[in-house]
Amino acid sequence: MSDKSTDQYAVIGNPIGHSKSPLIHGKFAETTAQDLVYTAIEGPLDGFSAAVDAFRAAGGLGLNITAPFKLDAFRYATDLTERARRAGAVNAMKFEGDRAYADNFDGVGLVRDIVHNLACPLQGQRVLLLGAGGAARGALLPFMEQHPARLVIANRTLDKAQGLAASTEGPLAACSYAELVGQEFDIVVNATSASLRAELPPVPASVFAQARLAYELAYGKGLTPFLRLAKNAGVQQLADGVGMLAEQAAEAFAWWRGVRPGTQSVIQTLTIPLM
Ligand code: ATR
Repeated sequence: MSDKSTDQYAVIGNPIGHSKSPLIHGKFAETTAQDLVYTAIEGPLDGFSAAVDAFRAAGGLGLNITAPFKLDAFRYATDLTERARRAGAVNAMKFEGDRAYADNFDGVGLVRDIVHNLACPLQGQRVLLLGAGGAARGALLPFMEQHPARLVIANRTLDKAQGLAASTEGPLAACSYAELVGQEFDIVVNATSASLRAELPPVPASVFAQARLAYELAYGKGLTPFLRLAKNAGVQQLADGVGMLAEQAAEAFAWWRGVRPGTQSVIQTLTIPLM
């Protein structure tokens, strides 16, 4: 019998019951034959650090971090990657001795889903990013690294979009929703939290006239008001964030274990039809 205890990983959030991460990482461990357990931790709202300390003291090797703790994890980390620093948020940590290494795979997961799974290159494309909160901030640098022809950030609160656009180099602009009238894009990404409340960002349907892809970051909401608007405007390819969820998980898994799992079977299992 081996005296090596099984390696421990977990996702921490509050609430956490809805998280698909244990299912995803369990499948990844199975398909890559990695000996690990992956659980879900409901962290107390005012006790993130103590919960992480306890997990580490019990031998925990790595965590995924979900709402509302991505900023707490940012502060907890001893070593941040450039993209975590730029995103201002952390969604994965790895523990080695007294170090807490931290990264953010949400943006690269999104880009990989669009470029690889949906076969929709971003290079040379006109991209519209709706929203200027945490989700948009995490996506911005990975998007710009793909060299779009132009990326426009639209937000209800214009100065947040302007601040975000000013934070990064490249062919970037910020505008209000009203200013989108008459502008056309190849790819439109909804990174607002509007869909979580079945709301529609006030985006004019004309932005979809030439679009080949409308991407909704929210996952499992079916045909959201945003996707419905895109569909009615004739956009052929519609996607929600299930692929992004699987891809960010695969990035974290590869970072922890040195082997990158395939994502297709997880994506198939978790896909909810866009109807
Ligand atoms: P997240 O981490 O999900 O990005 P957030 O940081 O709270 O959450 O940001 C939410 C984003 O969704 C913001 O860009 C917000 O716009 P404002 O900055 O103007 O508040 C946007 N948002 C939320 N509900 C919206 C709605 N109904 N219409 C348009 N934008 C909305």
